[in-house]
Parts: sequence; C-alpha cells; structure tokens
Amino acid sequence: VNPQEPLHTVCELGSLGFDQGAHLLLQHAIDRVEPGGTIKITGEDRHLTVHLTAWCRQEGHQVQTEPDPDARVRATIVRGTVALDRLHGAERAGGPKPDETVARPPAHWGLAARGALVESGGPDVPFAVADRSIAWSDLAPRLYAHAAAAQWDPATAVPWDADFDLPEEVEDAVVQVMTYLVENEQAALVIPGRLLAQVHPHFREVLQLLAVQAADEARHVEVFTRRALLKGGRMGSSSAGGRASLATLVAEPDFSIASFLLSVLGEGSFWNLLSFLEHHAPDPVSRRITCLARQDEARHVAFGVSHLEHQATVDPSLRFRLRAAVERRHDALIDTAGLNRDVFDALVILAAGSWTPAAIARGYRAVQKLEADMDEGRRQRLARLGFTDGEAAELSALHTRNFM
Ligand SMILES: [Fe+2]
Ligand SMILES: [Fe+2]
Repeated sequence: VNPQEPLHTVCELGSLGFDQGAHLLLQHAIDRVEPGGTIKITGEDRHLTVHLTAWCRQEGHQVQTEPDPDARVRATIVRGTVALDRLHGAERAGGPKPDETVARPPAHWGLAARGALVESGGPDVPFAVADRSIAWSDLAPRLYAHAAAAQWDPATAVPWDADFDLPEEVEDAVVQVMTYLVENEQAALVIPGRLLAQVHPHFREVLQLLAVQAADEARHVEVFTRRALLKGGRMGSSSAGGRASLATLVAEPDFSIASFLLSVLGEGSFWNLLSFLEHHAPDPVSRRITCLARQDEARHVAFGVSHLEHQATVDPSLRFRLRAAVERRHDALIDTAGLNRDVFDALVILAAGSWTPAAIARGYRAVQKLEADMDEGRRQRLARLGFTDGEAAELSALHTRNFM
C-alpha cells in the first residue's frame, strides 16, 4: 500500500469472505468515501474477487480486480451513486420528539417510525384520523408515561383473601353493582381499542395511551367480575336500557365524538360513581378495586378533556357537533329506562348498609348526592371545552341515565 494514501481508502478483509459478512466491512469503508472515490480491497478469501464483483455490480459500484492471485490488493472499487439514488426522494417522517409531529402525516408514511428516513414508493395505509388537530393532545406523552408506570397487578394489588361476610342483601347489592360495572367497563374497553386503530401511527403517543387505557379497562373487567363471583359465584342482571345506552356509544363512528361521549361525559360520571363506591363499599375488596379503577379513570378523563380542549381551540364547529351528538343520543334513548332499576336500588342499599328506615333514607340521599356530583362534574368539564354555563347545564341534563 502506498504510504501516501489515506488509510480509509483501504478495506482489509483478512480471511473474511462474502459468505461470512464481508459486505459489512466493505460497506462501512464505502460510506466513508465520496461517489467517484476509490477503495482498495485486501483479503485472502479464495472466492473474494468473484463475490466482490457480483456484489459491486448489484450495488452500482465499479470494480477492477487484480489478476495476480498473490497480489496484496485484490481489487479496486470506485464508489457509484445508486445507493444514494435509492434514497433520493426519501423524506423524514417528522421528528422523533412529541413536538416534532407534522400537521398531516401522509398515508404513504404508513407504519414508519416517526422521524425515520422514509424511502419513497411504499404503499398508502389509510388512517381515518391523520390530522394533528383531531388526533393530538400535548398531554398524551406525559399521560402515557404516567399510565405505564401506574399499571397494577390484579392478583397482588387486591386483598382477595380478606376475611369478611356481608348480610345477604348487601352482598346481592354488591354483586348487582359489579355486574353493572363489568358491562360498562366492556364498552370502555371496546371503544379505545377501535379508536386506536383509526389514528395515524405518526401520533404514536396517542396510540400508546389508548392501548394502555384498554389494558386498564381489561383489568377493571377482571377485578369487578372477580368480586361479583367472590362469595356466591353468580352475576347479577343486565338491563335492556343499560345495554341500549352502551350500544349508542359503541356505534359512534366519529373519533372526536366517541371520545367526548365516552371519556368526557361517561368516564367522567363513572369517576364519581367509583368515588361513591369506594366511600360506601361494605368490604375491603370492593373498596380497593373501586379505588384502583377510579385512579385509572382519572387519566382517561384527563386525556379526553385535554384532547377535545385542544381541538375546540382550532375547530370552532366542534362544539356544535358535540352538542348535536348529545341531543341525538338522548333522542335515541328516550324510550329506554336508562339506568337499570336494580342498579339504582343496589346503590341505595350499599350506601345504607342496613335495613332501618333511617339507613335507607341516608342511602337514598347519598345516591341523590352522587347524581348531583356527576352533574356538577360534567358541567365543569363541558365548561373547559368552551360551553357556556347554561349550555353545559342543559347538555349535562341530557346525558344518559345509565351514567356511561
Ligand atoms: Fe374502567
Ligand atoms: Fe376508563
């Protein structure tokens, strides 16, 4: 080797053959010279020049081999431009950080990682929600991190073996409430799962958050089922009206409206219900599982509110559409009973704790207070989306009697 030549133009392969990964060392050397620059190849592999010639032809580099098999330099390569041409027309899919999303990621970015250099020519993968103003919330990355850190294990986080025995009617009330919770949690599980699949993966923190939200609901379904079955091994009743209410939620195709009805109104009301149950729970298992679920629900509500709050600032028509959705849902449910009567009674019995007239009166008042708290919470969240106090009160009153 001429000592005047810079070292990086020599690629020493030693005994490494192309059947053992020699192309990696070669590519490493080629990357360090400009197109048109030369690289000298040394190496002892018997088939080196044959394999090298084929590889260079495929990669668009010129190659000149040395006929003397004992020469130290076996070939000289001139770097071509084909590899650069391949990435000509490639584009960066935004940047990897949350503040480096683009307003409208194109369909052909598909499942590429945000910030990746995307080679042109891939297939379009259509996602219904590919607009940052609809998909995004600045709170999503932080809420996701919080949610991932707050995952609890149903097997160990709940005192399943706690020793307690409730009066039969109180146990029945608990079973009825748990049965109702499971039904609603299943709606809350299905909806984020469906929404997740609509969002362009460019907004990955939103997908991640919805995935963890679905995982939260999966645990809620599990623990409420397990508590329902804990003593008697039997579930309570499911009313037609309750299921009708949930059916209108699950059927809502629009991402923003579904998120509004579920998270802002439904899960918001559920947060109050879980607080009520935690406070009045007659046993340690019910108390613990409603507490754990309530903490998760607070995140689901926070995401729904923040994401719609953001959207309301960029889309003045949003509030009209949300309002229309509440009215439409109310009209669709007008002939149904709304809340399962058995559930209402079970809530009263739970809060009463015993069968004296005074206790029942106290339980009844507690459930009325719960409904007032739910209404108050809904009105506050509606106000955050820009509704006037009057509109917020009106829309809250139209919310389903099923709570979710
Ligand atoms: Fe839940
Ligand atoms: Fe939830």
